[in-house]
Order: sequence, then C-alpha cells, then structure tokens
Amino acid sequence: MSLKQGKFITFEGVEGGGKSTQVKRLCKFLQANGTPVLLTKQPGGTDIGHRIRQILLHVDHAGMNPWCEALLYLADRAQHVSEVIRPALANGQWVICDRYQDSTAVYQGIARAVNADLLDQVFCQATDGLIPDLTFVLDVPTDIGLLRARTRNDAMEMAETEGRFEQEAVAFHEAVRRGFQERCLQEPERMKMIDARQNVDEVARHISQLCMAHFALHV
Ligand code: TYD
Repeated sequence: MSLKQGKFITFEGVEGGGKSTQVKRLCKFLQANGTPVLLTKQPGGTDIGHRIRQILLHVDHAGMNPWCEALLYLADRAQHVSEVIRPALANGQWVICDRYQDSTAVYQGIARAVNADLLDQVFCQATDGLIPDLTFVLDVPTDIGLLRARTRNDAMEMAETEGRFEQEAVAFHEAVRRGFQERCLQEPERMKMIDARQNVDEVARHISQLCMAHFALHV
C-alpha cells in the first residue's frame, strides 16, 4: 500500500515579518487536525546545511560575492530537499519550510541582481523541480520589519554571528519586499500575501483559513 504524498508549504517574506511564530502556529493547527507535520527551515535544515548557514549569515562575510551567496543557498536547498523534504513528503508527512526558493529568487535574483533564469535552472536541477504546493508571504513595511528583526537578534545575542542580512541598507530590504509582492501577483494560486502587521492571532487565523481553503481540508 503506498502512502499518500504529503503537502509542501513554505513561508517567505522580509525580515521581521514573524515567520518563525506563524510557522509554528500553522504546524500546531494542522497537527490538531490529525495531519503529520515536519517543520524545517532554510538555510540550515540538515547538518551540512547548518554549516552552510554559518558561512552565509556570518557578519564577517559582508564581502561575499553574489554568485557565491546564491550557490550556497542552492547547495543548502539541494541537500535539504534530498535528505529531508522529499523523504518526508513520500512518507505522507506535510512539510512546512521557513524560506525556500522564492527567497533566492528575490534576495539574490532581484536585490543582488544575479541572473534570475540561471538561478531558476540551477534550482530545477538541484531539487528536481520541487515547487511548494502553497506559499505564504508575510508582508510588513520594511522599517517595522527591520526594527523587529534587529531587536530580536540583539535579545538573542545573534548579531555577532547571524546578522549579515539585517545589516544591509534599507534600499536592499525595500527591493526584497517589492520582489515578494511582485511574485505574489505573478503566482496568485500558489503565493498568498499576508498582512503581518495584524496581531499574531489574527495572522495565524488568516493563514489557517487560507490553508484549509487551498487544500479543501475539513476540521
Ligand atoms: P534567518 O535567520 O532564517 O532569517 P529570517 O528569520 O529572516 O528568515 O536568515 C535567513 C537569511 O537568509 C534571511 O536574511 C534571508 C536570507 N536568504 C536569502 O538571501 N536567500 C535564500 O535563498 C534564503 C533561503 C534566505
């Protein structure tokens, strides 16, 4: 008897949009409805990916070449898809991943101006074209998001090691935000833009409703 393939859901968006909270909330919601869920993230969802993450996010690496950066994200993704995501989906689990290829398309393809078609081609080869069934993009104005992210990093004493992107100029983060907004317009079926300025419970309710409607789940 073959198990039914699980669904693949990703969360995306600017810094400080509250993704990690909402990822956990959707996980709890689905589990409460009897769905087996695996929660994971990029970069860093495998041992190899964890090491790649340390290189990518370290503040000492401000001079990283854009293609070096893009290929490291794709390397992390290739390992993560083959080692974790595909086996879980094949096992009937639903996978919720904090960031995925839309981040590469926007941060590297738009904000860093790396050739978007080539990024897409490498992604297709590296993952055998694993595209999410559903993607939530948590949108907040850049100033609010950056303030939240920097406050969080300070509180967690992460700034020393993982703050490379939070240190980018506001214009970079504005380009990222616009990039996500444009992608949502281009792919409205898969990508749902969520106003993440609302309170946590409202955002969580909105996401779970959209998720149920998308997969026609019954609670
Ligand atoms: P993370 O600590 O996961 O931050 P966040 O909570 O904002 O998701 O850091 C991941 C950083 O890497 C984030 O700044 C976005 C960036 N990123 C890319 O530039 N390209 C990618 O493909 C991915 C997955 C992330």
